[in-house]
Amino acid sequence: MGVKKKIGMLPGDGIGPEVVAEGRKVLEAIAERFGHSFEFSYGDVGAVAIDNTGTPLPDETLAVCEQSDAFLFGAIGDPKYDNDPSAKVRPEQGLLKLRKSLGLFANIRPVTAYDSLLHMSPLKVDRVKGADFVVYRELTGGIYFGEKGRTEDGAYDHCTYSNYEIDRIAHLAFKSAENRNKKVTLIDKANVLETSRLWRERVTAIAKDYPEVTLEAMFVDNAAMQMIQNPKQFDVILTENMFGDIISDEASVIGGSLGLLPSASIGDKTGMFEPIHGSYPQAAGKNIANPLATILSVAMLLDHIGLIDEAIEVRQAVNASLRNGLVTEDLAKNQGYGTDRVGDFIVNCILDGEESGSQSNIEAGLSTII
Ligand code: IPM
Ligand code: MG
Repeated sequence: MGVKKKIGMLPGDGIGPEVVAEGRKVLEAIAERFGHSFEFSYGDVGAVAIDNTGTPLPDETLAVCEQSDAFLFGAIGDPKYDNDPSAKVRPEQGLLKLRKSLGLFANIRPVTAYDSLLHMSPLKVDRVKGADFVVYRELTGGIYFGEKGRTEDGAYDHCTYSNYEIDRIAHLAFKSAENRNKKVTLIDKANVLETSRLWRERVTAIAKDYPEVTLEAMFVDNAAMQMIQNPKQFDVILTENMFGDIISDEASVIGGSLGLLPSASIGDKTGMFEPIHGSYPQAAGKNIANPLATILSVAMLLDHIGLIDEAIEVRQAVNASLRNGLVTEDLAKNQGYGTDRVGDFIVNCILDGEESGSQSNIEAGLSTII
C-alpha cells in the first residue's frame, strides 16, 4: 500500500542545492517504484536565507519543517561569514535554532568503513577494516545552549543537563545497540565535570533496562585516542553535545570518505536528514560534489518514516554505485562522473535494477534514464 508523506527540502548553501536535487530524484524514484506519494516543500536556510531575508532561518522555513514528516537538509556555511567571527548574523545560528525549535535532540551518525575505500583512510587498513559504529550525540543541551555572556573581564558558557535530557537519548542509544552488536560506550569527562557525573549515573541506571547490552564508559580524551588506535571496538557511542561534535568529526574521516556519511537529527515529531560533509563552497555549481552522503541520508529518512524496504533498496543502489565505479571524482581520481550522473545511476538501479544503470549501459546509451 502506498503512503502519502510531506517532505521538506532545505538545500542551503554551497553544494547543498546540487546534492539535495539528487536526493529528491531518489525519493521520486522510490515513490514511483513503490506507489507512494511524496509532497515536497522548499525553504531557505543559512547564508542564502540571510542574503534573501536577513535571517538564517526564516519563519516560513521553520513552518515547512514543522509541517513535514521529515526533511532533507543540504548544507550551510559561506566563507564570507567564516572569516568574520564577530558577524552578528551567522548561518550556523539557523541550524542551532532549527534543532532547538523542532526539539531535534538526538544526532545519529553511522560510520561505516567501506572495503572499496579503505585505501583512502588516514589509518592503516587493518585498523579500520570492518569498523562499523554509530554515534548518538545529544543535540539540544549542554554548553551549546547554556547561558553565555561576557563579564567585565572575561566570558562564560554554562553547561547544564537535566535528567530528562540524558534519559531520552540514552534510551535511543540502548535500543539501537539491541539491534546491533549490543555495546554502548558512554563518552564523558566524569573525572572533572559534574554534568558528566550525572550522565554516568543516569546511563548506568538505564543500562539495567537493557540486560543484553554491555555498557562501557570512557573519558573523552582517551576516546579520541582509542578512535584512532582501535575504532573496531565501538558499536554505539553515546555522548553529550560538545564531545559529540568533536568525536563525530574525528570518526567521520576514518572510513576514507566524508562524501559518504549521512546523519539524522531526530526528536519527537519530524526528523532532519543531512549529509555531514558541509557546504564545500569551492565545489559549488561544478557538478562534482558527491551526492552519496545525501542519498544515504535519504535512506535514513525512509527508515524514519517507516519505509524500511525502500531504505534497503536505496542502500543497495549506493553499494552498486561503489561496486561499478559510478562515483564522483573524490572517489575516483580523473575518472569521476558528475553529481547528476551518479544520481541518475542510483535512480536507474531503483527503477530497473543494477544492470540497466551500469557504466557500460550508460555509455552505450542503453540506460533508460540518460
Ligand atoms: C555540526 C556542526 C555544527 C555544530 C555547527 C555548524 C554549529 O559542526 O553539525 O556538527 O557544532 O553542531
Ligand atoms: Mg561539528
